[in-house]
Amino acid sequence: MVLDAAAATLPRKSGSVDRLVRLAETDMAGVNRLITERMQSDVPIIPALAEHLIAAGGKRLRPLLTVAAARLAASDGAGSDNDHCLKLAAAVEFIHTATLLHDDVVDGSALRRGKVAAHLIWGGAQSVLVGDFLFARAFELMVETNSMKALEILARASRVIAEGEVMQLMRSHDLNLSQALYLEIIQAKTAELFAAASEAGAVSAGVDAAKTDALKAYGLQLGLAFQLVDDALDYGGATETLGKNAGDDFREGKATLPLLLAIARSGPREAEFWERAVGRREQTEADFRRARELIIGTGALDATLDLATDYADKAKAALAIFPANDWRGALEDLADFAVSRRA
Ligand code: IPE
Ligand code: IPE
Ligand code: MG
Ligand code: MG
Repeated sequence: MVLDAAAATLPRKSGSVDRLVRLAETDMAGVNRLITERMQSDVPIIPALAEHLIAAGGKRLRPLLTVAAARLAASDGAGSDNDHCLKLAAAVEFIHTATLLHDDVVDGSALRRGKVAAHLIWGGAQSVLVGDFLFARAFELMVETNSMKALEILARASRVIAEGEVMQLMRSHDLNLSQALYLEIIQAKTAELFAAASEAGAVSAGVDAAKTDALKAYGLQLGLAFQLVDDALDYGGATETLGKNAGDDFREGKATLPLLLAIARSGPREAEFWERAVGRREQTEADFRRARELIIGTGALDATLDLATDYADKAKAALAIFPANDWRGALEDLADFAVSRRA
Protein backbone atom coordinates (compact mmCIF):
# COMPACT_ATOMS: atom_id res chain seq x y z
CA MET A 1 0.00 0.00 0.00
CA VAL A 2 1.33 3.42 -0.94
CA LEU A 3 1.19 5.57 2.18
CA ASP A 4 3.05 8.55 0.84
CA ALA A 5 0.47 10.85 -0.71
CA ALA A 6 3.13 12.81 -2.55
CA ALA A 7 4.37 9.61 -4.20
CA ALA A 8 0.84 8.85 -5.31
CA THR A 9 0.68 12.08 -7.25
CA LEU A 10 4.25 12.27 -8.53
CA PRO A 11 4.01 10.59 -11.95
CA ARG A 12 1.82 13.36 -13.35
CA LYS A 13 3.39 15.83 -15.73
CA SER A 14 4.38 19.11 -14.24
CA GLY A 15 2.76 22.35 -15.26
CA SER A 16 3.22 25.92 -14.29
CA VAL A 17 1.41 29.23 -14.35
CA ASP A 18 4.70 31.12 -14.71
CA ARG A 19 4.31 31.87 -18.42
CA LEU A 20 0.74 33.03 -17.97
CA VAL A 21 1.63 35.21 -14.98
CA ARG A 22 4.50 36.78 -16.94
CA LEU A 23 2.43 37.46 -20.07
CA ALA A 24 -0.47 38.87 -18.06
CA GLU A 25 1.66 40.91 -15.65
CA THR A 26 0.59 44.37 -16.85
CA ASP A 27 -3.06 43.39 -17.22
CA MET A 28 -3.12 41.80 -13.77
CA ALA A 29 -1.56 44.91 -12.20
CA GLY A 30 -4.60 46.75 -13.57
CA VAL A 31 -6.97 44.08 -12.27
CA ASN A 32 -5.38 44.23 -8.81
CA ARG A 33 -5.69 48.04 -8.79
CA LEU A 34 -9.40 47.70 -9.55
CA ILE A 35 -9.81 45.08 -6.84
CA THR A 36 -8.16 47.28 -4.20
CA GLU A 37 -10.16 50.31 -5.31
CA ARG A 38 -13.52 48.56 -5.40
CA MET A 39 -13.26 46.65 -2.14
CA GLN A 40 -13.38 50.01 -0.33
CA SER A 41 -16.42 51.13 1.61
CA ASP A 42 -17.22 53.75 4.25
CA VAL A 43 -18.40 50.92 6.48
CA PRO A 44 -15.06 50.05 8.11
CA ILE A 45 -15.55 46.34 8.74
CA ILE A 46 -16.09 45.76 5.00
CA PRO A 47 -12.60 46.72 3.72
CA ALA A 48 -11.00 45.21 6.84
CA LEU A 49 -12.60 41.82 6.34
CA ALA A 50 -12.20 41.88 2.54
CA GLU A 51 -8.55 42.92 2.82
CA HIS A 52 -7.82 40.04 5.20
CA LEU A 53 -8.78 37.57 2.47
CA ILE A 54 -7.73 39.51 -0.62
CA ALA A 55 -4.28 40.56 0.67
CA ALA A 56 -3.61 36.89 1.49
CA GLY A 57 -3.29 36.49 -2.27
CA GLY A 58 -4.77 33.43 -3.83
CA LYS A 59 -3.74 32.20 -7.25
CA ARG A 60 -5.95 34.68 -9.17
CA LEU A 61 -6.58 31.94 -11.74
CA ARG A 62 -10.03 33.10 -12.78
CA PRO A 63 -9.10 36.71 -13.66
CA LEU A 64 -5.97 35.36 -15.37
CA LEU A 65 -8.32 33.26 -17.45
CA THR A 66 -10.42 36.28 -18.44
CA VAL A 67 -7.34 38.26 -19.45
CA ALA A 68 -5.75 35.35 -21.32
CA ALA A 69 -8.97 34.50 -23.17
CA ALA A 70 -9.29 38.12 -24.32
CA ARG A 71 -5.64 38.27 -25.35
CA LEU A 72 -5.70 34.95 -27.16
CA ALA A 73 -8.87 35.96 -28.98
CA ALA A 74 -7.38 39.36 -29.87
CA SER A 75 -4.13 37.81 -31.09
CA ASP A 76 -6.30 36.19 -33.73
CA GLY A 77 -7.37 39.54 -35.22
CA ALA A 78 -10.31 40.58 -33.05
CA GLY A 79 -10.21 43.95 -31.31
CA SER A 80 -9.94 43.67 -27.54
CA ASP A 81 -11.42 46.30 -25.23
CA ASN A 82 -8.76 46.25 -22.53
CA ASP A 83 -10.59 48.44 -20.03
CA HIS A 84 -13.69 46.25 -20.18
CA CYS A 85 -11.63 43.08 -20.01
CA LEU A 86 -9.89 44.22 -16.81
CA LYS A 87 -13.20 45.18 -15.22
CA LEU A 88 -14.67 41.79 -16.05
CA ALA A 89 -11.56 40.07 -14.69
CA ALA A 90 -11.86 42.01 -11.41
CA ALA A 91 -15.58 41.16 -11.29
CA VAL A 92 -14.77 37.48 -11.72
CA GLU A 93 -12.29 37.57 -8.81
CA PHE A 94 -14.86 39.38 -6.65
CA ILE A 95 -17.44 36.68 -7.40
CA HIS A 96 -14.87 34.03 -6.49
CA THR A 97 -13.88 35.86 -3.29
CA ALA A 98 -17.52 36.23 -2.27
CA THR A 99 -18.10 32.50 -2.74
CA LEU A 100 -15.03 31.74 -0.59
CA LEU A 101 -16.39 33.87 2.27
CA HIS A 102 -19.74 32.13 2.03
CA ASP A 103 -18.22 28.69 1.51
CA ASP A 104 -16.03 28.83 4.62
CA VAL A 105 -19.09 29.61 6.74
CA VAL A 106 -21.06 26.79 5.12
CA ASP A 107 -18.18 24.31 5.41
CA GLY A 108 -17.08 25.48 8.86
CA SER A 109 -13.50 25.79 7.55
CA ALA A 110 -10.90 27.33 9.84
CA LEU A 111 -8.10 28.14 7.41
CA ARG A 112 -8.13 29.98 4.06
CA ARG A 113 -5.12 31.15 2.05
CA GLY A 114 -2.91 30.25 5.01
CA LYS A 115 -4.79 32.58 7.35
CA VAL A 116 -7.51 32.14 9.95
CA ALA A 117 -10.83 32.14 8.09
CA ALA A 118 -12.59 35.53 8.25
CA HIS A 119 -15.71 34.14 9.95
CA LEU A 120 -13.59 33.06 12.93
CA ILE A 121 -12.32 36.61 13.36
CA TRP A 122 -15.33 38.76 12.49
CA GLY A 123 -18.18 36.25 12.79
CA GLY A 124 -20.28 34.23 10.37
CA ALA A 125 -22.95 36.85 9.75
CA GLN A 126 -20.33 39.51 9.03
CA SER A 127 -18.53 37.19 6.62
CA VAL A 128 -21.70 36.37 4.71
CA LEU A 129 -22.67 40.04 4.43
CA VAL A 130 -19.23 41.13 3.20
CA GLY A 131 -19.54 38.30 0.66
CA ASP A 132 -22.77 39.92 -0.49
CA PHE A 133 -20.98 43.27 -0.74
CA LEU A 134 -18.31 41.75 -2.99
CA PHE A 135 -20.97 40.12 -5.17
CA ALA A 136 -22.64 43.51 -5.56
CA ARG A 137 -19.30 45.15 -6.40
CA ALA A 138 -18.81 42.54 -9.10
CA PHE A 139 -22.14 43.47 -10.65
CA GLU A 140 -21.32 47.20 -10.57
CA LEU A 141 -18.11 46.49 -12.46
CA MET A 142 -19.94 44.40 -15.04
CA VAL A 143 -22.55 47.09 -15.63
CA GLU A 144 -19.74 49.57 -16.31
CA THR A 145 -18.68 47.47 -19.30
CA ASN A 146 -22.06 48.02 -20.96
CA SER A 147 -22.04 44.41 -22.08
CA MET A 148 -25.36 42.66 -21.58
CA LYS A 149 -23.71 39.49 -22.84
CA ALA A 150 -20.96 39.57 -20.19
CA LEU A 151 -23.55 40.42 -17.55
CA GLU A 152 -25.68 37.48 -18.66
CA ILE A 153 -22.71 35.09 -18.55
CA LEU A 154 -21.52 36.08 -15.08
CA ALA A 155 -25.00 36.47 -13.57
CA ARG A 156 -25.80 32.96 -14.73
CA ALA A 157 -22.54 31.59 -13.31
CA SER A 158 -23.28 33.25 -9.95
CA ARG A 159 -26.68 31.62 -9.84
CA VAL A 160 -25.32 28.21 -10.84
CA ILE A 161 -22.56 28.36 -8.17
CA ALA A 162 -25.23 28.90 -5.52
CA GLU A 163 -27.18 25.94 -6.91
CA GLY A 164 -24.03 23.80 -6.81
CA GLU A 165 -23.26 24.74 -3.23
CA VAL A 166 -26.83 23.97 -2.13
CA MET A 167 -26.84 20.66 -4.05
CA GLN A 168 -23.59 19.67 -2.34
CA LEU A 169 -24.91 20.63 1.07
CA MET A 170 -28.00 18.46 0.60
CA ARG A 171 -25.82 15.51 -0.42
CA SER A 172 -23.24 15.56 2.35
CA HIS A 173 -22.90 12.23 4.20
CA ASP A 174 -24.49 10.47 1.20
CA LEU A 175 -22.27 7.45 0.58
CA ASN A 176 -24.40 6.48 -2.41
CA LEU A 177 -23.95 9.69 -4.38
CA SER A 178 -23.48 8.76 -8.03
CA GLN A 179 -20.41 9.84 -9.94
CA ALA A 180 -22.70 11.62 -12.41
CA LEU A 181 -24.28 13.73 -9.69
CA TYR A 182 -20.88 14.45 -8.13
CA LEU A 183 -19.70 15.75 -11.52
CA GLU A 184 -22.84 17.84 -11.86
CA ILE A 185 -22.12 19.40 -8.46
CA ILE A 186 -18.48 20.26 -9.17
CA GLN A 187 -19.41 21.62 -12.57
CA ALA A 188 -21.93 23.94 -10.95
CA LYS A 189 -19.92 25.06 -7.92
CA THR A 190 -16.55 25.47 -9.64
CA ALA A 191 -16.29 24.77 -13.37
CA GLU A 192 -19.06 27.14 -14.46
CA LEU A 193 -17.14 30.13 -13.08
CA PHE A 194 -13.98 29.04 -14.89
CA ALA A 195 -16.08 28.73 -18.07
CA ALA A 196 -17.73 32.10 -17.52
CA ALA A 197 -14.40 33.81 -16.74
CA SER A 198 -12.99 32.55 -19.99
CA GLU A 199 -16.12 33.25 -22.05
CA ALA A 200 -16.42 36.79 -20.67
CA GLY A 201 -12.83 37.49 -21.75
CA ALA A 202 -13.66 36.28 -25.25
CA VAL A 203 -16.78 38.45 -25.33
CA SER A 204 -14.78 41.54 -24.32
CA ALA A 205 -12.52 40.86 -27.31
CA GLY A 206 -15.50 40.65 -29.67
CA VAL A 207 -14.43 37.35 -31.14
CA ASP A 208 -16.76 35.10 -33.20
CA ALA A 209 -19.09 32.48 -31.70
CA ALA A 210 -16.93 29.46 -32.54
CA LYS A 211 -13.92 30.94 -30.74
CA THR A 212 -16.00 32.16 -27.82
CA ASP A 213 -17.42 28.65 -27.45
CA ALA A 214 -13.94 27.14 -27.63
CA LEU A 215 -12.71 29.38 -24.80
CA LYS A 216 -15.81 28.61 -22.76
CA ALA A 217 -15.26 24.86 -23.29
CA TYR A 218 -11.62 25.26 -22.28
CA GLY A 219 -12.67 26.97 -19.04
CA LEU A 220 -15.30 24.37 -18.24
CA GLN A 221 -12.96 21.38 -18.71
CA LEU A 222 -10.20 23.17 -16.81
CA GLY A 223 -12.59 23.90 -13.95
CA LEU A 224 -13.64 20.25 -13.70
CA ALA A 225 -9.99 19.17 -13.63
CA PHE A 226 -9.25 21.86 -11.04
CA GLN A 227 -11.98 20.77 -8.62
CA LEU A 228 -11.18 17.06 -9.03
CA VAL A 229 -7.58 17.84 -8.05
CA ASP A 230 -8.81 20.00 -5.19
CA ASP A 231 -10.82 17.06 -3.92
CA ALA A 232 -7.77 14.78 -4.28
CA LEU A 233 -5.56 17.29 -2.43
CA ASP A 234 -7.91 17.26 0.53
CA TYR A 235 -6.59 13.72 1.09
CA GLY A 236 -3.23 13.78 -0.71
CA GLY A 237 -2.03 17.30 0.02
CA ALA A 238 -0.50 19.10 2.98
CA THR A 239 -2.15 21.86 5.01
CA GLU A 240 1.01 24.01 4.89
CA THR A 241 1.10 24.15 1.08
CA LEU A 242 -2.66 24.15 0.58
CA GLY A 243 -3.26 27.09 2.90
CA LYS A 244 -6.43 25.31 4.01
CA ASN A 245 -6.79 22.32 6.29
CA ALA A 246 -6.35 18.94 4.62
CA GLY A 247 -9.10 16.59 5.75
CA ASP A 248 -11.83 19.23 5.85
CA ASP A 249 -13.92 17.33 3.29
CA PHE A 250 -13.71 14.10 5.27
CA ARG A 251 -14.50 15.73 8.59
CA GLU A 252 -17.60 17.39 7.21
CA GLY A 253 -18.63 14.21 5.38
CA LYS A 254 -18.42 15.69 1.88
CA ALA A 255 -19.05 13.03 -0.76
CA THR A 256 -16.16 13.78 -3.13
CA LEU A 257 -14.87 11.43 -5.83
CA PRO A 258 -11.81 10.11 -3.91
CA LEU A 259 -14.13 9.10 -1.07
CA LEU A 260 -16.83 7.64 -3.35
CA LEU A 261 -14.27 5.60 -5.30
CA ALA A 262 -12.61 4.30 -2.13
CA ILE A 263 -16.01 3.25 -0.77
CA ALA A 264 -16.81 1.44 -4.03
CA ARG A 265 -13.46 -0.38 -3.79
CA SER A 266 -13.75 -1.31 -0.09
CA GLY A 267 -14.47 -4.66 1.53
CA PRO A 268 -17.07 -5.24 4.31
CA ARG A 269 -14.74 -4.19 7.15
CA GLU A 270 -13.98 -0.89 5.48
CA ALA A 271 -17.64 -0.47 4.54
CA GLU A 272 -18.50 -0.38 8.23
CA PHE A 273 -15.75 2.23 8.79
CA TRP A 274 -17.13 4.51 6.03
CA GLU A 275 -20.68 4.05 7.25
CA ARG A 276 -19.72 5.07 10.80
CA ALA A 277 -17.30 7.90 10.02
CA VAL A 278 -19.08 9.49 7.08
CA GLY A 279 -22.64 8.16 7.09
CA ARG A 280 -23.31 8.34 10.86
CA ARG A 281 -20.81 11.18 11.48
CA GLU A 282 -19.12 9.37 14.36
CA GLN A 283 -15.48 10.29 13.89
CA THR A 284 -12.39 10.04 16.02
CA GLU A 285 -9.11 11.94 15.50
CA ALA A 286 -7.49 8.85 14.00
CA ASP A 287 -10.17 8.34 11.36
CA PHE A 288 -8.82 10.83 8.84
CA ARG A 289 -5.51 8.98 8.73
CA ARG A 290 -7.32 5.70 8.05
CA ALA A 291 -9.49 7.32 5.39
CA ARG A 292 -6.43 8.77 3.74
CA GLU A 293 -4.67 5.39 3.74
CA LEU A 294 -7.71 3.70 2.21
CA ILE A 295 -8.15 6.41 -0.42
CA ILE A 296 -4.52 6.12 -1.46
CA GLY A 297 -4.28 2.35 -0.98
CA THR A 298 -7.36 1.52 -3.06
CA GLY A 299 -6.08 3.70 -5.91
CA ALA A 300 -9.02 6.08 -5.50
CA LEU A 301 -6.71 9.09 -5.30
CA ASP A 302 -4.90 8.08 -8.48
CA ALA A 303 -8.17 7.39 -10.30
CA THR A 304 -9.40 10.87 -9.36
CA LEU A 305 -6.20 12.41 -10.70
CA ASP A 306 -6.50 10.32 -13.87
CA LEU A 307 -9.97 11.70 -14.49
CA ALA A 308 -8.67 15.23 -13.84
CA THR A 309 -5.92 14.61 -16.40
CA ASP A 310 -8.55 13.57 -18.97
CA TYR A 311 -10.40 16.84 -18.44
CA ALA A 312 -7.18 18.87 -18.62
CA ASP A 313 -6.39 17.17 -21.95
CA LYS A 314 -9.87 18.04 -23.21
CA ALA A 315 -9.31 21.63 -22.12
CA LYS A 316 -6.10 21.81 -24.13
CA ALA A 317 -7.79 20.20 -27.15
CA ALA A 318 -10.47 22.91 -27.11
CA LEU A 319 -7.74 25.47 -27.91
CA ALA A 320 -6.89 23.81 -31.25
CA ILE A 321 -9.02 26.40 -33.06
CA PHE A 322 -6.44 29.09 -32.19
CA PRO A 323 -3.03 29.59 -33.78
CA ALA A 324 -0.14 28.25 -31.71
CA ASN A 325 1.23 31.31 -29.92
CA ASP A 326 2.45 32.33 -26.49
CA TRP A 327 -1.03 32.89 -25.01
CA ARG A 328 -2.29 29.54 -26.21
CA GLY A 329 0.86 27.90 -24.83
CA ALA A 330 0.32 29.63 -21.49
CA LEU A 331 -3.25 28.31 -21.31
CA GLU A 332 -1.97 24.83 -22.15
CA ASP A 333 0.55 25.17 -19.31
CA LEU A 334 -2.29 26.22 -17.02
CA ALA A 335 -4.17 22.99 -17.81
CA ASP A 336 -1.07 20.99 -16.86
CA PHE A 337 -0.69 23.07 -13.72
CA ALA A 338 -4.28 22.31 -12.71
CA VAL A 339 -3.45 18.61 -12.49
CA SER A 340 0.04 18.88 -11.00
CA ARG A 341 -0.56 21.59 -8.44
CA ARG A 342 -0.06 21.13 -4.70
CA ALA A 343 -1.52 24.48 -3.67
C1 IPE B 1 -10.69 27.53 -4.12
O1 IPE B 1 -10.23 28.04 -5.33
C2 IPE B 1 -12.10 27.08 -4.29
C3 IPE B 1 -12.22 25.96 -5.24
C4 IPE B 1 -12.92 26.02 -6.31
C5 IPE B 1 -11.57 24.70 -4.93
P1 IPE B 1 -8.71 28.45 -5.55
O2 IPE B 1 -7.81 27.32 -5.20
O3 IPE B 1 -8.57 29.02 -6.91
O4 IPE B 1 -8.53 29.59 -4.45
P2 IPE B 1 -7.49 30.78 -4.37
O5 IPE B 1 -8.18 31.96 -4.98
O6 IPE B 1 -6.25 30.40 -5.11
O7 IPE B 1 -7.26 30.97 -2.90
C1 IPE C 1 -15.33 25.27 -3.82
O1 IPE C 1 -15.89 24.67 -2.72
C2 IPE C 1 -16.38 26.04 -4.60
C3 IPE C 1 -16.81 27.31 -4.02
C4 IPE C 1 -16.14 27.97 -3.11
C5 IPE C 1 -18.02 27.88 -4.56
P1 IPE C 1 -15.04 23.76 -1.72
O2 IPE C 1 -15.67 23.84 -0.40
O3 IPE C 1 -14.84 22.43 -2.33
O4 IPE C 1 -13.62 24.48 -1.76
P2 IPE C 1 -12.58 24.68 -0.60
O5 IPE C 1 -11.92 23.36 -0.37
O6 IPE C 1 -13.30 25.19 0.58
O7 IPE C 1 -11.60 25.68 -1.18
MG1 MG D 1 -15.06 24.71 1.35
MG1 MG E 1 -17.73 23.89 0.00
